[in-house]
Amino acid sequence: CGIVGVLGSHHVSPLLVEGLKRLEYRGYDSAGIATVDNGKLSRRRALGKLVNLSDALVHDPLPGKSGIGHTRWATHGAATTENAHPHQRGRVAVVHNGIIENYRALREFLKERGITPESETDTETVAMLCNWHLDQGLDPVEAAKETVKRLEGAYALCFLFEGEDDLMIAARKGSPLAIGWGAGEMYVGSDALALAPMTNELTYLEEGDIAILRRARADILDENHAPVTRPRRTVSLDASSTDKGGHRHYMSKEIAEQPTTLANALKYYTENREGQHLLEHGVDFTAFDRIVMVACGTASLACFVSKYWFEQIARIPVEIDVASEFRYREPPLNSRTLALFVSQSGETADTLAALRYCKGKAGMILSIVNATESSIARESDLALPILAGPEIGVASTKAFTSQLAVLAALTLQAARQCGTVTAARAQELSDQLRAVPGLVADALTIAPQIHRVAQQLARFDDVLFLGRGAFYPMALEGALKLKEISYIHAEGYASGELKHGPIALIDEDMPVVVLVPHDAMFDKTISNMQEVMARGGKIIMISDARGLSEGGDGVWQRIEMPAAAGPFAPIVYAVPIQQLAYWTAVEKGTDVDQPRNLAKSVTVE
Ligand code: G6P
Repeated sequence: CGIVGVLGSHHVSPLLVEGLKRLEYRGYDSAGIATVDNGKLSRRRALGKLVNLSDALVHDPLPGKSGIGHTRWATHGAATTENAHPHQRGRVAVVHNGIIENYRALREFLKERGITPESETDTETVAMLCNWHLDQGLDPVEAAKETVKRLEGAYALCFLFEGEDDLMIAARKGSPLAIGWGAGEMYVGSDALALAPMTNELTYLEEGDIAILRRARADILDENHAPVTRPRRTVSLDASSTDKGGHRHYMSKEIAEQPTTLANALKYYTENREGQHLLEHGVDFTAFDRIVMVACGTASLACFVSKYWFEQIARIPVEIDVASEFRYREPPLNSRTLALFVSQSGETADTLAALRYCKGKAGMILSIVNATESSIARESDLALPILAGPEIGVASTKAFTSQLAVLAALTLQAARQCGTVTAARAQELSDQLRAVPGLVADALTIAPQIHRVAQQLARFDDVLFLGRGAFYPMALEGALKLKEISYIHAEGYASGELKHGPIALIDEDMPVVVLVPHDAMFDKTISNMQEVMARGGKIIMISDARGLSEGGDGVWQRIEMPAAAGPFAPIVYAVPIQQLAYWTAVEKGTDVDQPRNLAKSVTVE
């Protein structure tokens, strides 16, 4: 969910809607705003995307210079207007990101006092409790403090009060929140992106902080309610990086940006002094016996690809787990374990919880993030930026390839430190990595071929993706991308595993996408492909010219890639699987940038 708040000098609802637009990647089940206008607290809410709220505001505007807004990804309670934020009870309106774990107990407490809920949400309980404190005679600041004291779970909260045109209270525990400073104005936002049109002067709240905001000042209290000063910093965000740059969708723009974003990341770690220093001196791989990698979604598949690299090239054993499973598995860790977390947003709650589990147990906490001010970055011993720029499309594309590029650079560094490759081999590998952005640019030129295949693929309900070695996790990513945005059921399998079960599914209604560059494992994968063809399966073969000429006879569809050699070729193959998903979704007319039920940054466990 996304939060924005403004104590402004003009009519505030357009600013709130603009801020929410930039936060819509965090969820779009419903949206709402509340304002105070000459002391009067009112709100408007609408189901579905933000555009429904802005339409509603045209017919029924909401005056006022102070306001809060929210865009929701439903957790407690269905996506309905009643469950949309802000939640208002009596003299308080609240927006919330996170989960109040003890809301049932709080509801009981309030029920005994004759106060019953009007929605199914945990958030409404916060408004009920705060309003009850006001009714007990506390002033708004004390009421908010008392309320927050009783909350368990994770939250970023923003309160607005009836009769208080110059007061907004923000609180943070477990979910990020920043204060923005303006000229005679004050803002609150879930991230810098939300506040970019208004200010780039930010203060990030720390765990347990409460901020009492007025137009002219911000008083911050720490978790013990003692006054504290938090640093104010200027963040750089290029406003143009958040528009579609002439593309129909953010996803298509972000796919097209990859030659540049990859080159940026690689240059930073090889040519920029700061980046070189981070790479060369940030981690001493000789101090570790193994790496434990933890992430969610696409980021976890970047980890999975890099497992092949770290193990083959640097000879360091790698374990991987999805973050939601990792912590509860209670894996043993010790000082010779390097714990590595990969996250685009740096705010994924499951990944953050896993990171916290590792603190004090693993020898080092390393993260690879896009958002360098994020909680995951801030709580790591070292955070390596991927420098991909804002990624708005919910399905990750350029962040995925940049994560891979940084993981590849890190592998080479580990191999140098551990002495597992000769100088000549190290040079060859680093030349191959340097060639990746150019190969990705070449791969982008085959879009018309992919478009044609996607027109066919869109007719099917089920698709399999196969790959071997590091192309196995790429097959998983291909399936994930396709199901995320086109809603076609897709599964990824290791090519060799097909015969142990999934081959039973093969018929002419289930196309099989095979990722098979002409490499050392080519013949083996082609054999697996033949097993499918022998059973009437339709093959979409993605390979290079040599691979297609040697193994492409009788396949249903061919996609010809540039020849990419060496262990980093999977990065280049990210492009056709992204484009296949993209064009299939476009063909089906689904919402590419904001697929149903998903959110880009999932800040609840
Ligand atoms: C969500 C998104 C995925 C993303 C995952 C991890 O589920 O829909 O696309 O890969 O979160 O996000 P992170 O920000 O931690 O990389």
